[in-house]
Amino acid sequence: MLIVLVGPPGAGKGTQAKVLMDRFRIPQISTGDMLRAAKANGTLAPELVKRMDTGGLIPDEVVIDLIDRRIDAPDCQPGFLLDGFPRTVPQAEALGALLDRRGRKLDAVVQLDVDRRLLEERLTGRRTDKRTGQIYHLVYSPPPPGADLEQRADDRLEAVAKRLDAYEAMTAALLPYYEGKGLLRRVDGEGKPADVTAGVLAVLGQPGHAARSSRNA
Ligand code: AP5
Repeated sequence: MLIVLVGPPGAGKGTQAKVLMDRFRIPQISTGDMLRAAKANGTLAPELVKRMDTGGLIPDEVVIDLIDRRIDAPDCQPGFLLDGFPRTVPQAEALGALLDRRGRKLDAVVQLDVDRRLLEERLTGRRTDKRTGQIYHLVYSPPPPGADLEQRADDRLEAVAKRLDAYEAMTAALLPYYEGKGLLRRVDGEGKPADVTAGVLAVLGQPGHAARSSRNA
């Protein structure tokens, strides 16, 4: 199964990716996680660290190269789940070319729809456990006592607005692109995480999951 999860910052891509990985036994490939790992080990150029921390996008060629090198790993042979890539039409075209070269095809592009008013609240309340990588929310998914929590630099209020603007300006063009290819599946991302998972599984044609209302699909 080759799936792309798209949606604005805070839509729940990372949260749903963890569930889908287990369900389909495929790895999650998150360009955001890869870039944060590069930042942590000092291999991301300082100007890119600054761009990321303040809510800007990283140049297409940098993220395309990360994906090009990642998808040949043995764990990707049964399939993979892309989270946060592609984000622009040039990235989507590059992904198409990378897959063509390998004789592989996307099964679906799943968009999580969430209104902007909810996204700010989700992002500023997000905390991650440094030890386990588990994502929590201070209100919606409270961490257990003793969790070693950190807040992402780009989840501070000033960066959040910039990320949402960047999404609306650039990533939104992806939806018509994948709609034209007949790959786009839209899911209401505003319910409880388990309900959103049910919606995602339904649009992926997994038996036993009735589709939740998908807007604009
Ligand atoms: P990235 O790490 O990809 O971040 P993002 O797309 O902004 O998305 P997030 O990780 O913030 O949100 P999410 O949708 O995964 O939500 P989550 O599940 O955590 O990218 C970060 C940066 O890296 C970018 O800004 C850019 O600089 C760079 N970058 C990465 N990829 C790039 C690319 N391809 N091109 C260029 N630059 C790139 O959930 C959020 C919160 O909500 C959590 O607290 C969670 O507990 C809570 N929550 C989740 N679901 C629900 C629910 N159903 N109900 C209530 N709360 C919920």
